[in-house]
Amino acid sequence: MATLFFVLLLSLLTTCSSVSNENSMNADEHRALLDLVGSLLADSSWTELHPQPCTDTPWPGIQCESDISDADLLHVTSIHIGPDLLSPPPCKSFASLSPASFLHFPFLKTFSLFSCFLYPNSVSLPPSLFTSTPALERLVLNGNPGLSGEIPSSVSSLQRLRVLSLPQNNFHGVIPREIGRLRALQQLDLSYNHLSGEIPEEIGRISSLSILDFSSNQLRGKLPASIGSLQSLEKIDLGFNHLSGRVPPELGELKKLVLLDFSHNNLSGPLPEELSGLKQLQYLIMENNPFNISIPFFLSSLKKLTVIGLSGCGLMGPIPPYFASLESLTALSLDNNSLNGTVPDSLDLLSNLGELNLSQNQLSGEIGFSVEFVRRLGKRLDLRGNKDLCAKPNDKYEEASVRLEAAACLGPGIDNGGKRGVVEDGDGRISSSLDGNEVENCCYFGVSSLWTLGFQGIAIVVALLV
Ligand SMILES: *[C@@H]1O[C@H](CO)[C@@H](O)[C@H](O)[C@H]1NC(C)=O
Ligand SMILES: *[C@@H]1O[C@H](CO)[C@@H](O)[C@H](O)[C@H]1NC(C)=O
Ligand SMILES: *[C@@H]1O[C@H](CO)[C@@H](O)[C@H](O)[C@H]1NC(C)=O
Ligand SMILES: *[C@@H]1O[C@H](CO)[C@@H](O)[C@H](O)[C@H]1NC(C)=O
Ligand SMILES: *[C@@H]1O[C@H](CO)[C@@H](O)[C@H](O)[C@H]1NC(C)=O
Repeated sequence: MATLFFVLLLSLLTTCSSVSNENSMNADEHRALLDLVGSLLADSSWTELHPQPCTDTPWPGIQCESDISDADLLHVTSIHIGPDLLSPPPCKSFASLSPASFLHFPFLKTFSLFSCFLYPNSVSLPPSLFTSTPALERLVLNGNPGLSGEIPSSVSSLQRLRVLSLPQNNFHGVIPREIGRLRALQQLDLSYNHLSGEIPEEIGRISSLSILDFSSNQLRGKLPASIGSLQSLEKIDLGFNHLSGRVPPELGELKKLVLLDFSHNNLSGPLPEELSGLKQLQYLIMENNPFNISIPFFLSSLKKLTVIGLSGCGLMGPIPPYFASLESLTALSLDNNSLNGTVPDSLDLLSNLGELNLSQNQLSGEIGFSVEFVRRLGKRLDLRGNKDLCAKPNDKYEEASVRLEAAACLGPGIDNGGKRGVVEDGDGRISSSLDGNEVENCCYFGVSSLWTLGFQGIAIVVALLV
């Protein structure tokens, strides 16, 4: 019986070989490939023009590899349609995936489609994609607004999956708990969909995960503490969701984390001091969460921080001077909070800083930054909306061509004179663009009380716009 089968198989292979020159494909696999590609591409002549996609008429989106035991037998291992291809063939307006699409791709390692299902015709993921492709390592479906439905729990059958990247589609429903069984998974990107419900606790079992991106969905509930077990995690982006509750202290165990983005959620404070364990952290993006806390001390121990985004976090109290020790900082955003006290002059020692936004707070006192610093940052230095903040009248600030809207420091109480870094030019005259001629030559140090009354508290453009 077995012999008979073998003979039959052999004769089948021989038949195929006679079609193409040397190499051959399994007939089912061959037909399945032509069917699949035919259901996707607008050009209906493609399958006729490329009858042997693995051999005689190769196509850049298709890759084939020889069978382990038979070098002449070829298997489809990669199907890809994307803009990176040289003259990518466009998908048809009603491209589809039939329920049986993947039944004959036992060796498929990569399936990726970029911007293929563009029209809202409700293509969903066929079950065969999860039950019949045991070799699948990369499933990438990106920018397909016509791709909807749920992410099925059978996704966990893909035990070799390393990359599950499904951003910018129209998926609904919850993230299946079974996703925690994908032990080989390194990248999980479900961003820009309409996923709801909570982040499953089981996420913490995907021990090889290095990238986790669920941003721009409608996820609710708490951040699972189990995320702290993801020891390989380098990037976590959960921004633009409705997550609430506190940030679990376990997250401080993410020793390799480089990027943490929890912005635009409903997370509350306090932030755990354990986050001081994030020694590799470079990007801390938390803006627009109602933390309502003072600036946490643990930031001072994260020496690799390059970008801090804590705008709109309900921050209160002073800006601690330790920011000056975070030497890698390139951008610091603390705007739209309730910070008070003075602006630490020492921030101007941060030689890599190119962006500083402290606007819309309750900061007060004199701006003591060096002219060099003010000049370097230009418009990316924003101190507006702090009504008790004042700038020492100074031509050099003007020369720096910088927009620094702050009242001029007038009156004896505010002008403490000779602050470090501000180049004094004698008369300290400022030029103002406020109402043109009216205020020409208006402002000097030690100006009369009349001027003090007239201008204190009014935003004066200390230096002109470029
Ligand atoms: C935000 O979180 C608080 C509790 O921390 C909760 O009372 C409130 O309902 C949440 N708001 C939204 C819009 O989810
Ligand atoms: C945080 O402060 C804002 C504004 O003061 C307030 O509306 C909100 O209820 C506070 N949230 C929490 C969780 O304390
Ligand atoms: C300021 O922060 C609040 C939350 O604290 C947010 O609702 C608002 O949109 C923010 N404003 C700007 C201009 O970003
Ligand atoms: C800052 O605000 C707090 C109340 O939120 C107040 O107790 C403190 O005195 C203020 N500090 C300064 C320097 O104004
Ligand atoms: C600084 O923050 C404010 C308020 O959040 C925002 O309106 C402004 O555009 C920001 N400035 C810069 C230069 O990005």
